[in-house]
Amino acid sequence: MKLSIIGTGYVGLVTGTCFAEVGHQVICVDNDAAKVKTLQAGGIPIYEPGLEELVKKNVAAGRLRFTADTAEGVNQSDVVFIAVPTPPQTDGSVDLSYIERVARDIAAAMTSYKIIVDKSTVPVKTGEKVAETIKRYCASKTEFDVVSNPEFLREGFAVGDLMNPDRVVIGVRSQRPVAAMTEIYSPFKAPIIVTDINSAELIKHAANSFLALKISYINAIATVCEAAGANVQEVAHGIGLDERIGRRFLNAGIGFGGSCFPKDLSAFIKISEQVGYDFQLLKEVQRINADQMARFVKKITETLWVLKDKKIGVLGLAFKQNTDDVRSSPAIDLCQRLLKDGAALRVHDPKAMDKARPLLPNVTYVEDMNAVADGCDALVVATEWDEFKQLDLARAKKALTHPILFDGRNLFNPAEMEKLGWIYKSVGR
Ligand code: UDX
Repeated sequence: MKLSIIGTGYVGLVTGTCFAEVGHQVICVDNDAAKVKTLQAGGIPIYEPGLEELVKKNVAAGRLRFTADTAEGVNQSDVVFIAVPTPPQTDGSVDLSYIERVARDIAAAMTSYKIIVDKSTVPVKTGEKVAETIKRYCASKTEFDVVSNPEFLREGFAVGDLMNPDRVVIGVRSQRPVAAMTEIYSPFKAPIIVTDINSAELIKHAANSFLALKISYINAIATVCEAAGANVQEVAHGIGLDERIGRRFLNAGIGFGGSCFPKDLSAFIKISEQVGYDFQLLKEVQRINADQMARFVKKITETLWVLKDKKIGVLGLAFKQNTDDVRSSPAIDLCQRLLKDGAALRVHDPKAMDKARPLLPNVTYVEDMNAVADGCDALVVATEWDEFKQLDLARAKKALTHPILFDGRNLFNPAEMEKLGWIYKSVGR
């Protein structure tokens, strides 16, 4: 099918590429001309495992191309996906101005029937507004359908999640766009749920809030484990084998971050408030998440006491492994707190150092993770990169003034670390 995707961020670029990979003709549109130039020249503006190869392959096969011209994308496709940012505003609600702008641009460009699909995470009832907007701004009064098709990909695993989705959600107002939407997704071999637009929009916020709730739940359990002398990983394993609960997203740590969970929680709380429900449960999820970071910082200050003039090595800057994304990263938050208390930092991340530089201009960036410990008073693990498990512990122990490791992601085994002579503090163990 002929598809266009408006917005080439994490969602738009990966979605467009995977659609091309299964045989559709895809045009990716972005209003950032410099970004489009980069993509046209074979450059990938984000790090996402497997993406670069797939983009190259599909561009070479003539199934994927890039343009800065929305009208070109709209006119040369049957289905137009919207994948633009929906950032948070200061009161927690969602800024829908990018969605509105794109809806108007599509309306201005449309000359024949189009299916307009919203992929961005939006508050319930946004589909209705998009439909109203397109109708209002479409001078030619062309027919169209609006569809909600939320995306559930995780950064760092985006290609895999998109190629093998657990489910595809399609929210519609009439049956007309269903056949085309089903055809687009038929190569993905996933269950397809066809529902109304409001329910589809709510599914996305309800899913992300539940996952965030799962993480806060295990982080709260971790606090109890620490006080009671139990091990949160054993507890997670024990409860996770119950299929009704499941082991995934039960990793205790320094809390969740990223561009989705914090924003979607605030938005869902706000949306609920607007429809008359005070979602206390989700407010508690936020509180536990904030508390988790504060407790970890306290652990560091209790051991190192005064941070002023202490040198700390930090492993990890991205909000999680396999990504270069530092938006709302707990690791960056942690670094900023340590800096505020007067510590000097040596930091390393396998992929996120360039994106971290503007946020952390006054730290020392170290290319080799094994050299981070050099001359430091302690080491901190802030992101769950698998690479960090291969840290040369013997070298690090010699390089530190004292062998102290604060592991915010539970990457090492407490008993083994103790045997190796480390003062080792992790989360919930
Ligand atoms: C999330 C959802 O998983 C995805 O379905 C949705 O489409 C977008 O939002 P993403 O933000 O890319 O994806 O990352 P995710 O893997 O969910 O991790 C979010 C945060 O939770 C990270 O900071 C991560 O470190 C943290 N996390 C995750 C934990 O602390 N413990 C866990 O067990 C899992």
